[in-house]
Amino acid sequence: MDFSDDEIVNDSTDTPFSEIAAHRLTRRQVLAGGLAGAAAFLTGNVALGTAAAAVDAAPPDPTHGRGGRRNLLGFEPIGPGTGDEVVVPRGYTARPFVPWGTPLLAGAAAFVPGTPPFVAGGNSAADQAGQVGMHHDGIHYFPLGRGREGDHHGLLVVNHEYTDEGYLHTGQNQPSTFLTAQAAAWTLEMVRKSQHAHGVSVIEIERSEDDDDHDHGPGRSAGGGGEWRVVRSPRNRRITATTPMRFAGPAAGHRLLRTAADPAGTTPLGTVNNCANGYTPWGTYLACEENFNGYFRLTAGAYDAEHAALNARYGVGGDRNNWGTNDPRFVVTPAGPNEPHRFGWVVEIDPFDPSSTPVKRTALGRMKHEGAFVHVARSGRAVAYMGDDQAGEYIYKFVSAGSWRSMIARGRSPLDEGTLYVARFADDGRGTWLPLVHGQPGLSAAAGFADQGDVLVKTRLAASAVGATPMDRPEWTAVDPRTGTVYCTLTNNTSSAKVVNAPNPRKPNPWGHIIGWTEDGGDHTATRFRWELLLLGGPGRDSATPDGSTITAEDAFGSPDGMWVDPDGRTWILTDGSQPGGVNDQMLAADPASPDGRGAPEIRRFLTGVPNGEVTGVITTPDQRTMFVNIQHPGEGGGSQWPQGDGLATPRSATVVITKDDGGVIGS
Ligand code: FEO
Ligand code: CA
Ligand code: CA
Ligand code: CA
Repeated sequence: MDFSDDEIVNDSTDTPFSEIAAHRLTRRQVLAGGLAGAAAFLTGNVALGTAAAAVDAAPPDPTHGRGGRRNLLGFEPIGPGTGDEVVVPRGYTARPFVPWGTPLLAGAAAFVPGTPPFVAGGNSAADQAGQVGMHHDGIHYFPLGRGREGDHHGLLVVNHEYTDEGYLHTGQNQPSTFLTAQAAAWTLEMVRKSQHAHGVSVIEIERSEDDDDHDHGPGRSAGGGGEWRVVRSPRNRRITATTPMRFAGPAAGHRLLRTAADPAGTTPLGTVNNCANGYTPWGTYLACEENFNGYFRLTAGAYDAEHAALNARYGVGGDRNNWGTNDPRFVVTPAGPNEPHRFGWVVEIDPFDPSSTPVKRTALGRMKHEGAFVHVARSGRAVAYMGDDQAGEYIYKFVSAGSWRSMIARGRSPLDEGTLYVARFADDGRGTWLPLVHGQPGLSAAAGFADQGDVLVKTRLAASAVGATPMDRPEWTAVDPRTGTVYCTLTNNTSSAKVVNAPNPRKPNPWGHIIGWTEDGGDHTATRFRWELLLLGGPGRDSATPDGSTITAEDAFGSPDGMWVDPDGRTWILTDGSQPGGVNDQMLAADPASPDGRGAPEIRRFLTGVPNGEVTGVITTPDQRTMFVNIQHPGEGGGSQWPQGDGLATPRSATVVITKDDGGVIGS
């Protein structure tokens, strides 16, 4: 989603902008659509995605990856989408699954859309607590069992990033003035329903052994299974904005995390705005807290300089969901300013234990966490790559102190002890990871960082202090498991205050781009790397309005957001908003190892979404024969009643289950 992510709150002047004396791309070149410099990067020194790139240790998730390299992109690409249906290539089937409101916990109520004015006739807050949440985003599949068993039975874990309060309470699209106009009539019941529609769902699912559904034509019986269904299981779980959690890592118990309700600063309540995700080799799920700032009502008053700076840099305020009307936890005052600091973290969840307490891992820093992709380095250390999604913010990585296996064996979390770094991109295609460690230059008590807890709670300020490179809204990160190349989507940046630098060459940048890098020596714990641009999105270099894009008009897309490289190297790119030609959001597959001869990888469009709906998370089963893709906020602002066929006019975020009719690997 977008909200005000284009607003620049990072006014740091201590950026490497001044160091980048000679941009390969001048503003004039960009405006002229020349981008000769970008081409130099695209054919430059990194050779993104080629087999020659250094290869690190095994893929982070050993349960994924039994496909083959042959026919990497074997499907017929589809055209852009404008209709109110999800479209996939010929030979594939896509079915909506587990939409918002699906009964999940024992005894949960069936979904009933609300009716105006508020919850009359619709599900209650208690109902919502037992149902699948709203606005599906990051997603992962944890197999239950080995081999074929685990390919047909597992835990689907889904983030619910935010809520559309109009659809939530009235079942209908409402104007943007709806919340403010109704604020005086807002009730605690409405706030709780909204809070219960946030968070994460853990859903046990299985695929029937026989395909007894003959509606989809011949050939599907070769797929070795039928449709997926939700299992009634004690493993099913809802985690919401009110679920008890705990803090761990260097900032746990820090003075800036203490509140009247939790004077020890160790037991936060709930998680919000869970955007992208991560998954660890030790079998846990990471839900990342992105635009947490907007859930708070910021009371005017005399904040001390520290809190004033934090409120400004993190953009605290807005009361976007009217929670401040009835839940004092989301009202910030000079006497009680710390609750916002208890959000903006990476939350680790054990999906296999429904009684486990989710843990906010403070060592990974506090920002508008888009996601946290974990890769295992050659040494066995866990490395988490993370974007901070706001215009002018940064890219981070966390490196665990020891190998994850030995730390887990000793009862230590690999996500509690280690080093957080922020990226500085130099103009010459080199880059440096700058450690955010208390006592380093710029991170002293005199500079406002009394201890490592300060560095972590104030991560954005610390990163500016060491001279990180401002980027065009860093979203998902991904690592190609075959080559070790790391990618980050930079979704767009149309701010007039945007910094132009070599890794973010276009101003304005309405279409976004994707950057890639290889760590020195193929070691993901290295502090130096080489980077280049994988592609620049837009209408297409061969279109009437190329706008600097390096892709073809046939593959036109903008605002890359979700990204995942499957075990074979298919690089899936998912979009969020503002597509060339105003078409629906989409998912494309790229093959970075097969350049199209003009500086961009081969790309084929695989899926198109629905009006005013975003294509968010993606994952497959280990055998890669079922893919799960999320459609978020269909009809935000109107224009969609998807999923069509449920007999309801209320559009509902949902997962899409994709299978290949011949039972093959998705995308092959
Ligand atoms: Fe929630 Fe940055 O997308
Ligand atoms: Ca986005
Ligand atoms: Ca996103
Ligand atoms: Ca193509």
